[in-house]
Amino acid sequence: MAGKKSNQFDVKEIFRNLRTNIEFMQMDDEIKVINLTSTTKNEGKSTISVNLAKMYAVKYPKTLLVDCDLRNPSIHRILGITNASGLTNLLTQIKDIKKIDEMSMVQHIELDEGVGILSVLTTGSSVPNPAEVLASKRFRKFLEMAKAEYDYILMDCSPVGIVADAVPVSSICDGTLFVISSEENQKKSIKMCADGLKRNGANILGIVLNKVDSKTKKYGYGYGYGYGYGYGKD
Ligand SMILES: Nc1ncnc2c1ncn2[C@@H]1O[C@H](COP(=O)(O)OP(=O)(O)OP(=O)(O)O)[C@@H](O)[C@H]1O
Ligand SMILES: [Mg+2]
Repeated sequence: MAGKKSNQFDVKEIFRNLRTNIEFMQMDDEIKVINLTSTTKNEGKSTISVNLAKMYAVKYPKTLLVDCDLRNPSIHRILGITNASGLTNLLTQIKDIKKIDEMSMVQHIELDEGVGILSVLTTGSSVPNPAEVLASKRFRKFLEMAKAEYDYILMDCSPVGIVADAVPVSSICDGTLFVISSEENQKKSIKMCADGLKRNGANILGIVLNKVDSKTKKYGYGYGYGYGYGYGKD
């Protein structure tokens, strides 16, 4: 974003366009639960999850952002909220929960200029077995309940080239956004990761190309966002 940092409007416009593109993809299949992953660390998943979730919340009153990166939580830091309690704590009580949005673990963030409310579930207490938690029946039950309550659910996940935690999450989401930072030169591993996700049942909606030189559109040192559909279903 460095090249565009001073122009907040452009960033909003980019995420509005990304939201619209996803909306147009749901002509036949409903895309309500979207997760974000990438090949490696630092590609911009969490930043993009937050910006995209805010853009959904502007339009849809019931939007939930979930931090599923149990090994490296960061949504709470980006939003400046507490992570005293969150997803892992909610999962321990899931059998007794009637409404997720009413649970104390869910934080309700008022967006700038009062344009909407975003519900946020941070990771919560750290657990020794993140992969098991995200592949559990409890997590599935949580997602089922959340789907019934929210218009849209966005889930920030770990990089799939480093740990497999995002694989079971991607397979139960309606669509996966694959974030690629143009600062990394990792074509082979990107393909391996994307193919691995697809083999495990993920519906890769497309890629979000991050940290792109917005002036030349070539890979470089500027920052920006772009998106494409190079990793579609077929
Ligand atoms: N388009 C961008 N322009 C400038 N800086 C960016 C951009 N996208 C992300 N960053 C910065 O890059 C760093 C990594 O971003 P972020 O934490 O969103 O990545 P991540 O993929 O979630 O990382 P991790 O795998 O560690 O969770 C942060 O400091 C963030 O502010
Ligand atoms: Mg992150």
